[in-house]
Amino acid sequence: MRKIVLTISLLLLMKFTICQNMVSHDLIVLPNPNFKSNVSIEEALQKRRSVRSYRRDSLHLFEVSQVLWAAYGTTLGHKKTCPSAGATYPLEIYLVAGDVKGLATGFYRYNPLNHTLNLLSRNDYRKQLTEASLNQEYIQEAPASIIIAAHFERTTKVYGKRGERYVYMEVGHCGQNIHLQCEALNLGTVIIGAFEDDKVKKILNIKGEPMYIMPIGRKP
Ligand SMILES: Cc1cc2nc3c(=O)[nH]c(=O)nc-3n(C[C@H](O)[C@H](O)[C@H](O)COP(=O)(O)O)c2cc1C
Repeated sequence: MRKIVLTISLLLLMKFTICQNMVSHDLIVLPNPNFKSNVSIEEALQKRRSVRSYRRDSLHLFEVSQVLWAAYGTTLGHKKTCPSAGATYPLEIYLVAGDVKGLATGFYRYNPLNHTLNLLSRNDYRKQLTEASLNQEYIQEAPASIIIAAHFERTTKVYGKRGERYVYMEVGHCGQNIHLQCEALNLGTVIIGAFEDDKVKKILNIKGEPMYIMPIGRKP
């Protein structure tokens, strides 16, 4: 009897350990973000520029993880790095990964609550996104891009029509967070707002409204 109980406990422990590391192919547990940096916020603000060309070099998973956290990660458990009207949090953050060490090429959704990525597709959408964005080819050249999409109804159901402007404002906060975090990591990025909404939605098969595409790569 003792042996059976021991075996069951061992099996349960093994299952728990596997779940903790999330070895599932479709769910990626991101490395924990850093909350300390050698680059001051003033330095990042002073140096921030739009960067539209990137070295042919992969990104590391810890870099992508850090930028995603800065974009919309959680703080104090239930709050986020972005201010949000009424804490309605209308944004969804997606990642197009083309060349990220430790991450399969594909399209992912960021889950801020547990700092994980969900694999949505194994396709490399960089070329299609470039075409949908007036051929701004830095999307294709960058090893990864972040897409910020908005679900307006989360905010308008609380604030009515005025909620729309709150969503646009929040996208701006999120984009600036990404910009400043990239600068602190010495990575380059640029906000892309010029694209065909319907095409981007169709390519990525997402329900929210695409607002920004932000390619990320190493500065030349
Ligand atoms: C809402 C918005 C949309 C933008 N869209 C694009 C774009 O589609 N393509 C692009 O290359 N830059 C785009 N930019 C970046 C601006 O061109 C850039 O911020 C501006 O030239 C100032 O340069 P700086 O960011 O280096 O200070 C956009 C910026 C904002 C805020």
